[in-house]
Amino acid sequence: MSDVTVLGQGAMGRALATALLAVGHQVTVWNRTPGRAAPGAVVAASPEAAAAASPLVVACVVDNAALRSVLTPDMVAGRTLVNLTNGTPKQARELAEEFGESYVDGGIMAVPPMIGQPGSLIFYSGSKDAFAETEPLLAVFGEARYLGEDPGRASLYDLALLSAMYGMFGGIDHALALGASADVPEAELRSMVVAWLRAMLAGQEKPADHAATYASLPMQAQAYVNLLDASREQGVRTDLVAPMGELLHRAVAAGPTHTMPDLLRTQSTAS
Ligand SMILES: NC(=O)c1ccc[n+]([C@@H]2O[C@H](COP(=O)([O-])OP(=O)(O)OC[C@H]3O[C@@H](n4cnc5c(N)ncnc54)[C@H](OP(=O)(O)O)[C@@H]3O)[C@@H](O)[C@H]2O)c1
Repeated sequence: MSDVTVLGQGAMGRALATALLAVGHQVTVWNRTPGRAAPGAVVAASPEAAAAASPLVVACVVDNAALRSVLTPDMVAGRTLVNLTNGTPKQARELAEEFGESYVDGGIMAVPPMIGQPGSLIFYSGSKDAFAETEPLLAVFGEARYLGEDPGRASLYDLALLSAMYGMFGGIDHALALGASADVPEAELRSMVVAWLRAMLAGQEKPADHAATYASLPMQAQAYVNLLDASREQGVRTDLVAPMGELLHRAVAAGPTHTMPDLLRTQSTAS
């Protein structure tokens, strides 16, 4: 028997197995494509054999459809399944129904080199008892933050944080395209973007004070028109940034009692 099985030896599954091996755990792994196992792990011949090898199975494959194609509830009967595959809250709840009482869902807020290092954070939700039992081992990956018994909670937090990241990265890509259209050196602009975002993110910790006191929405909506016009004039597509322009104008029209997240929620429930 191993201490833990890791299903999936992609970039993340390998990092998880490597972190466990580094602190002395016995680790069994399985991957669809052979030859990708973390060095030092025992390689199982099938997902069934891998799951049977340990009381705890950690799954980390590309998506939950891939997980379902390799793992069935009978394979993990009597074991804890911690699913660190990216998915939706609905998928997590369905998997918890199918895989039973010892199902824990997770969302990894780290890239593979961060696993086992300071700064790595992983959200968990689902079975409280299963989480409590496995927490010492899960803590090897990074801070293990339990968000409650609703299995969908971890992926909701995960996707919320990812949406913030992608929105920010989209803005960075647009900034770099605008700079490139005027031959601005990329490295120079990149370092300015990072410093600027750090300063603006500091304001996000107290958004109410910041927005109301220093930057009115009508002013921002007007400046945003210039951002879009200048982009078009420079031959830069506005796909990534145009929706924010519309939202700013809607926010101005709606008045100060509606926040931007309020407006987005109304839109998403209506559509
Ligand atoms: N990498 C990151 O920075 C990061 C960060 C946070 C969360 N995550 C999440 O971690 C999970 C794994 O990501 P990753 O970076 O390891 O991705 P990856 O390097 O692309 O590896 C994907 C893994 O999924 C397996 N897979 C794909 N389709 C499969 C199928 N039909 N049946 C069985 N296995 C299948 C792959 O097996 P093969 O080797 O056979 O292709 C491989 O083990 C994803 O849900 C991802 O969103 C990743």
